[in-house]
Amino acid sequence: MRKRIVAGNWKMNKTYEEALSLVSEIDNMVRDEVNGDVTVIVAPPFPFLQSVGKLTQGNDLMHLAAQNISEHDSGAFTGEVSASMLKSVGTEYVIIGHSERRMYHHEDAQTLYKKLKAAIAQGIKPIFCCGEPLEERDADRHFEYVGKQLHDSLSYLSNEEFDQVTVAYEPIWAIGTGRTASSQQAQEMHAYIREQLSRMFDAEAAHNTSILYGGSCNPSNAQELFAQPDVDGGLIGGASLKSRDFTDIIKSF
Ligand code: G3P
Repeated sequence: MRKRIVAGNWKMNKTYEEALSLVSEIDNMVRDEVNGDVTVIVAPPFPFLQSVGKLTQGNDLMHLAAQNISEHDSGAFTGEVSASMLKSVGTEYVIIGHSERRMYHHEDAQTLYKKLKAAIAQGIKPIFCCGEPLEERDADRHFEYVGKQLHDSLSYLSNEEFDQVTVAYEPIWAIGTGRTASSQQAQEMHAYIREQLSRMFDAEAAHNTSILYGGSCNPSNAQELFAQPDVDGGLIGGASLKSRDFTDIIKSF
């Protein structure tokens, strides 16, 4: 049985007090309103990881993720955060390959592969992001584009390593725009991703991989998206910053 997952990517938002207040509200709502068949993940900015993690540890549904990770173990890499550092504060998941990291920080496929290896080596589960820009979809090259993203970073992992990976499909044209992919567009791409995974690894690995949708997912569209056979949950941006919206998305299965 694939895990149902709803992960909140807070991106660069909130102050320390606001972060603690948000996660406390989410924790209370999840405890009161959500049954046990979903994995809830929150990904706060680095400075808040340990404190937010202390609040999620008491809730067996809630888990802590980082938004990025260094490919290096330690050393002269100013501003970077290593897998062992993240592990030491209780981080269980990490978002890797988000389009904003690929775009603003020029993270290429090889760098993302090294980040995947660094995370897995420390027992941190990657959430590997893929997704096409609008011009690729308009040119009907979106499947080829996403397939290359998957192959260029994931195909070098062993089956055992890949077992730790969750995939998130985030069409760039839907991120932060309010223009959500239709449930048909999401299902088509998720099915394609699963088929590509079966080629790179094996059918069982592909079947067991959770594939999340991200890109303007909100309480009004989550139920239809999550009802798709190859959509196993969501990677949520803006809506994850509001405890009521984030909880309502979690309840959408
Ligand atoms: O990582 C999730 C994020 O990119 C989606 O953002 O605001 O469109 O839900 P948003």
